Amino acid sequence: MAEYINPDYVPEPEKMNVKKGLEGAVIDTSSVSKVNAETNSLVYRGYPVQDLAENCSFEEVAYLMYNGELPNASQLADFTKKERGYREISTTLLNVIKALPQKCHPMDSIRTAVSFQGCEDARIWDSTPATDMDKAIQLLAKIPTMVAADYRFKKGLDFIPPKADLSIAENFFHMCFGKVPAKEVVKAFDVSLILYAEHSFNASTFTARVVTSTQSDLYSATVAGIGALKGPLHGGANEQVMHMMIEIADPAKAEQWMIDALAQKKKVMGFGHRVYKSGDSRVPTMKKYAQVMADVIGDQKWMKMYNSLEKVMVEKKKIYPNLDFPAGPAYYMMGFEIDFFTPIFVMARTTGWSAHIMEQAANNRIIRPLSEYVGSPQRKVTPISERK
Ligand code: COA
Repeated sequence: MAEYINPDYVPEPEKMNVKKGLEGAVIDTSSVSKVNAETNSLVYRGYPVQDLAENCSFEEVAYLMYNGELPNASQLADFTKKERGYREISTTLLNVIKALPQKCHPMDSIRTAVSFQGCEDARIWDSTPATDMDKAIQLLAKIPTMVAADYRFKKGLDFIPPKADLSIAENFFHMCFGKVPAKEVVKAFDVSLILYAEHSFNASTFTARVVTSTQSDLYSATVAGIGALKGPLHGGANEQVMHMMIEIADPAKAEQWMIDALAQKKKVMGFGHRVYKSGDSRVPTMKKYAQVMADVIGDQKWMKMYNSLEKVMVEKKKIYPNLDFPAGPAYYMMGFEIDFFTPIFVMARTTGWSAHIMEQAANNRIIRPLSEYVGSPQRKVTPISERK
């Protein structure tokens, strides 16, 4: 149904401060990360994301998310041991993933699998900080196993169990493809996980915080976050970028494709951002590693297309690529199926979600905003026999 607005509606000036899409609205305080649109910067707990990507592993960043500080060597060893010990998922859950319809999108699979994991956890209603921390590490460890299991089953292949002597990135390649690729490829993937880990009050994180604010559990908040991330205006954009590039097919056609798309007022996936208006701070790092992937596979097609599309969009509209623009082709060049790009984003963003869920729970007030009513004025119910 189209939006109905009562024609006699008289705006009440003091209530008309509607911020459509909550643009510019400061909802709460947070110490997890800061997006600074003026300087195009993003810091996780005070550390610039580019620094973290070049100098840390995804595991160190996950620890930082959960604990507020980077780990020292022995803290990282303990954390890694715990995470690796949690990677296996139950046979029942494996069978649930296997039983999902072949055509269901992997984001629907991971949403279902995380929900099922919550059903299996007897501590689901225990939201004490120590238990939530443990659940967060369990999700960090198990989500890659769930995604990889779905990846294998959708291709009619057998599940490959996780290995405890590999990093999260290496183990994911192992579980999907049965082997770990060259170091540069693993690094490019690890960097993508770091860059995708956290991004302040984005739509899925805000969703997770809203669910947490009702004193619901960490799994429910994560499932809600996955639902929000799936949309093409949010995490789903990395898949759409690659579909678009495949549709364009030839780098020589990219410039004209973009000119036509803009003339038709199309929303071009992988461009634009609610907060950044002159460039996404994560893009240069991810672009660098997408280029590494192009060099590894010895094919510059996607990077040439990347550069042409970006050039026209920036010249004509001053709209810059967001992280999904380089991440899409990077994952494609790593060999992943396109509809697994957003579930990979989930593997990373579970860290940011959990950090925000724990932060919300520690200082909670139910999130309950207002709306401005523009519907029908108050009226009386007519008995059904008298209704026309
Ligand atoms: N392609 C073409 N034009 C775009 C655009 C895009 N990707 N993103 C923004 N614009 C234009 C809009 O058409 C609008 O122009 P107008 O003022 O002439 O109507 C203007 O820029 C503002 O865009 P708007 O959609 O109002 O911004 P928003 O803050 O509500 O939305 C996004 C932000 C990210 C949802 C939006 O840029 C988008 O849809 N991008 C594509 C999806 C994507 O890559 N999402 C991943 C985000 S990390």
